[in-house]
Amino acid sequence: MTSLFSLSLLLSVALLSLSFLTTTISASQFTFHEATIESIHLAFAQSRLTSRQLVDFYLDQIQTLNPSLRCVLEVNPDALDQADEADRLRAAAAGGNGALGDLHGIPVLLKDSIGTDDKMNTSAGSYALLGARVARDAFVVERLRSAGAVILGKASMSEWYSLRSWEMPRGWCARGGQGLNPYMKSGNPCGSSSGSAIAVAANMVTVSLGTETDSSIICPADYNSVVGFKPTVGLTSRAGVILVSPRQDSIGPISRTVSDAVHVLDAIVGFDPRDEATGEAAEFIPMGGFKQFLREDGLNGKRLGIVRHPFSDFKGSTAASIFDQHLATFRNNGATLVDNLEIKNIDIILNPFQSGEMALLRAQFKHNLNEYLGGLSNSPVKSLAEVIAFNSDNPDLESMEEYNQDGLIAAEKTNILDEEVVKAEHMMKKLSEEGFEKLMKENKLDAMVTLGANAATIPAFGGYPALTVPAGYDDNGMPFGICFGGLKGSEAKLIEIAYSFEQATRMRKPPLSFSTEFHYQYYQ
Ligand SMILES: *[C@@H]1O[C@H](CO)[C@@H](O)[C@H](O)[C@H]1NC(C)=O
Repeated sequence: MTSLFSLSLLLSVALLSLSFLTTTISASQFTFHEATIESIHLAFAQSRLTSRQLVDFYLDQIQTLNPSLRCVLEVNPDALDQADEADRLRAAAAGGNGALGDLHGIPVLLKDSIGTDDKMNTSAGSYALLGARVARDAFVVERLRSAGAVILGKASMSEWYSLRSWEMPRGWCARGGQGLNPYMKSGNPCGSSSGSAIAVAANMVTVSLGTETDSSIICPADYNSVVGFKPTVGLTSRAGVILVSPRQDSIGPISRTVSDAVHVLDAIVGFDPRDEATGEAAEFIPMGGFKQFLREDGLNGKRLGIVRHPFSDFKGSTAASIFDQHLATFRNNGATLVDNLEIKNIDIILNPFQSGEMALLRAQFKHNLNEYLGGLSNSPVKSLAEVIAFNSDNPDLESMEEYNQDGLIAAEKTNILDEEVVKAEHMMKKLSEEGFEKLMKENKLDAMVTLGANAATIPAFGGYPALTVPAGYDDNGMPFGICFGGLKGSEAKLIEIAYSFEQATRMRKPPLSFSTEFHYQYYQ
């Protein structure tokens, strides 16, 4: 009896010291730079980190880096209070494991076109909307708040989703100026979710939300060496977000890891009576969420279609040879490759003036923007025509005169009922059916694989999902990603493929010029 008792005592002491050991080891490993949602939760659980410390770190990063990178338009004046509240709730829930969600206490940055009913502006990068009030939070923001996330601020973007002017550089807006790629000062950050990608890349926030009509999540994520996930249209509600196209727009996460993107996706998906498309897409949401598809062996048994032309035609380049190494990794992990596939009419698909896409997007943008602006209170502008007049009347606002607004003027001239617009929609549908859909179905593919971001237009045409993962750096240090595109509702497969690829390669490196030793202030 006695010996049994002492044995079990001995055991529990041993277990205790063992768990103490793991605690100290992992706690000393926590670093703010490149922190993931999982590493943050571990540090929270070990009482080694508070949400407030995390927000303090990011605010410091923003203060230091934003004057050069220009990716944050506004910091949320309530961010520290939200962090304190998250810390209070965590302390109160201590012991009640799992009561709080994956995003509890996690700072999130929002693209400036995602509406928030708080002290912040929602302006699509334009001065014209400063001071306007939205009627309520966007659905995705409601979801983030109820998950306990801290809304850190608003990210810069290509003004009006680049629809201000086709000549305007990507990542530029009147309010923020030119956003910069943290990997190359002279490098294009791409757009339109430029600020959302730059800030995550430069460790100014844990994760962010972007929006995509065509390439606007995938391209900036690719250029800034982060993960970008554009879900099937309707998986995430667009209600409360400045909309371009109901058939193409999707809200999605930008993050440093696939796992972080999936945690955010799980929090923001769902049916919303304010967005019809979410009804149809609700069936794509699996019981238990998307987390279950973060499988290291996720490449095993997958059929991947490789489309090279015209995306990896640059033979002999560093990117092309790294791409070939990655194809070998796919094979070594059990995937079957169907190589050298071609998308029918790819040259037309990639030219927005030939495919009808520009005509359609401009008309849909005008229509939806007028509806959105009509729903605002206190707004200096109530229609696209008034936005154009505002821009003409205020050439003095900082850098406002730098780029013209030919895109907005062209959009104002459209009518959503015009025959040209209706034809454009039919044409794009047909291009998508005969191109991407046919390719996927005929070859029984789980995903289309392309180098870089230029192929993102292909899934965009049909409202299909795409996911990009950092894949390397060219000779100048400019990042590039690999993009996986799938049919509607194929998120589970894309997650399996992307996660498995990421775990096998771990290509992302933080931008070196911005690595600081901030965490030592807390832990030395
Ligand atoms: C929103 O814009 C107004 C200008 O109308 C500005 O005074 C205010 O500070 C902005 N909000 C934040 C949080 O920056």
